Amino acid sequence: MKVGIIGCGAIAHIITNFAVDGKLGVDLEFFFDRDIERAENLALQVDGTVVIEVKDMLDKVDLVIEAASPQAVKDVVPEVLQKGKDVLIMSIGALMDFELKNKLENIAAENGAKIYAPSGAIVGLDGIKAASIGKIKEASLITRKPPRSLGISADGETILYEGKASKAVKEFPTNINVAAALSIACGKDVDVKIIADPNVNRNVHEVHVIGDSGEFKTITKNVRCSINPKTSVLAAYSAIKLLNSLNENLIVGT
Ligand SMILES: NC(=O)c1ccc[n+]([C@@H]2O[C@H](COP(=O)([O-])OP(=O)(O)OC[C@H]3O[C@@H](n4cnc5c(N)ncnc54)[C@H](O)[C@@H]3O)[C@@H](O)[C@H]2O)c1
Repeated sequence: MKVGIIGCGAIAHIITNFAVDGKLGVDLEFFFDRDIERAENLALQVDGTVVIEVKDMLDKVDLVIEAASPQAVKDVVPEVLQKGKDVLIMSIGALMDFELKNKLENIAAENGAKIYAPSGAIVGLDGIKAASIGKIKEASLITRKPPRSLGISADGETILYEGKASKAVKEFPTNINVAAALSIACGKDVDVKIIADPNVNRNVHEVHVIGDSGEFKTITKNVRCSINPKTSVLAAYSAIKLLNSLNENLIVGT
């Protein structure tokens, strides 16, 4: 399976490293970034090709990885799906715009393409998706990050946001991915609290779900990417595992 990537930052670096080691399960061949130097640096590692526009890779790939920004999901993903190519979306926060989500799902259905959104920076989405078959009564997320990961400085614990996931999208577009993944998996607008905490050195996500199948609590303490401390290594690994699983005959977990 031939793959191209849009956005050559922290997540793309980790994915490319796995490609170099032959552990991606797909052939990563095309690279696009609005900063062409970034695309060139990654392409060099796998003898890949840099494209000047996304459309230049579309006839040659089976799947495109979006690892750029919510805006890129809006601007570029529709044309990828229109070509009947599958897409793996990392900026899942973009899908909290339900008009955009419906539009992408419709284009995918009309053109026989699939949209994959890996579990990203949290654990437990498999169980929560299973629970959503029944009734989910409550779902909440507390995200705690070192202030630097949130692009601010703070001496003490500071609550930056408390409210529904759908409203956090505008204020924290690059920190909303976990809340979005949870909300979409639950089919519910999750209650979110975002805290800048100088006492933690990891990005920590506490999820609490109560449904008719039971109660779940998960805590994920993520190692941050060295290139971009806002991003957790686990998010990149979840994309790599998903790519690996495209060739597997046994799929474990929902
Ligand atoms: N699903 C999750 O749990 C999860 C976790 C972490 C990050 N993310 C999201 O994944 C995306 C990538 O994360 P990252 O840490 O690699 O980011 P990054 O900032 O390190 O890299 C993003 C790269 O994309 C490029 N880019 C941005 N917008 C673009 C556009 N419209 N067209 C072309 N190139 C563009 C930038 O130049 C940069 O090189 C972000 O949107 C981030 O919010 C999701």
